[in-house]
Amino acid sequence: MNKKVVLAYSGGLDTSVIIKWLSNKGYEVIAYMADVGQESDFAVYKQRALKTGAIKAVVEDLRAEFVKDFVFKALKADAVYENGYLLATALSRPVIAKGLVNIAHAEGAKYVAHGCTGKGNDQVRFEVTVSSLDPSLKILAPVREWELKTRSEEIEYAKDNNIPIDTTKKKPYSIDVNLWGISIESGKLEDPYHEPDEDIYQLTKGIDKASAKPVYIEIEFKKGVPVKLNGKAMDGVRLITKLGKIAGDAGVGRSDMIENRLVGIKSREIYEAPAGWVLYAAHKALESLVLDRETLHFKEMVAQKYAELTYYGLWYTPLKKALDIFIDETQRSVSGTVRLKLHKGTCSAVGRKSPNSLYKKELATYEKGDKFDQSLAKGFIELWGLPYKGSCKRGGYG
Ligand code: ARG
Repeated sequence: MNKKVVLAYSGGLDTSVIIKWLSNKGYEVIAYMADVGQESDFAVYKQRALKTGAIKAVVEDLRAEFVKDFVFKALKADAVYENGYLLATALSRPVIAKGLVNIAHAEGAKYVAHGCTGKGNDQVRFEVTVSSLDPSLKILAPVREWELKTRSEEIEYAKDNNIPIDTTKKKPYSIDVNLWGISIESGKLEDPYHEPDEDIYQLTKGIDKASAKPVYIEIEFKKGVPVKLNGKAMDGVRLITKLGKIAGDAGVGRSDMIENRLVGIKSREIYEAPAGWVLYAAHKALESLVLDRETLHFKEMVAQKYAELTYYGLWYTPLKKALDIFIDETQRSVSGTVRLKLHKGTCSAVGRKSPNSLYKKELATYEKGDKFDQSLAKGFIELWGLPYKGSCKRGGYG
């Protein structure tokens, strides 16, 4: 019987142990590493996977697809989970799962496996995505079932089975990183009253280290997608990388959250998404110029839903697809340029322009050239307030 399994492999302890554990159970493991901008040493990890018993190790560069089909869709939606999370980890799971499924098909494997625990959101995202893409694939989640209950037991298993690992020291945090941002949890952060130590941050400077002078940048969008940084055209991967450096140096992009997981737990997580927060602010600033009031307000509700669907692992679902169509329709006019000021952890849009601007100076001005007919306001207010005349007097505001 074909017992080929494609494993989402990170190169770390858990997934290395999984290679051995599955091999010991008679599976033929293909280690799959998706490059979503985590800057791992893929060549080293490839060797490690093979040494640990994988029959094959595959690295695939998914960065361009990740940015185009996942990150920028969420940006167009203005999706933010619980006011502080730009969904870097959540967005990467469906693209990795899609990669897993493709390799499984190419290799004729009937199984896929991941290294997620049974307490997190990522298991849900991987499995729901895999089963929406190909329900015939069987999913293995060894960490959820195996007998290795603690990290030291895993290290013990690794030693007994000659698995090459980086260090036997307990890692202080659990970290997930990609091009869009970084998620940091566990260790000391499990105390919600404990302020994160400065050295956990990898992409952003602290306020005291950030440059004293403000930095100005300019971002140009085409139909809701950023296409130029400071006047230079560049692809999404490069734009995010360059902007991330500038924003991170200015101390922009941190959040510290207690968030509601899908599995019912509240958890503490620290996020950094320097490029993400600048692009989010810029995109919102441009939308405020070109979208009419009702579309803009409705879109804010959609943003919330979109963030939830992403967080909940419901990327390949009918509602998400329908929302993308709505969002793309709104983005037809979201072209133009935004100027932002980054300073000591803050990011503010200070200028915006667009050929599709709905801002009319002749209507807004309090100076000469006013074309707004103020006499119309009287009748408008009369009818607007008509249903409520005397409502306070009537008590129940009815
Ligand atoms: N809480 C985030 C999410 O569910 C990140 C999960 C992964 N975090 C980590 N530090 N390994 O999307």
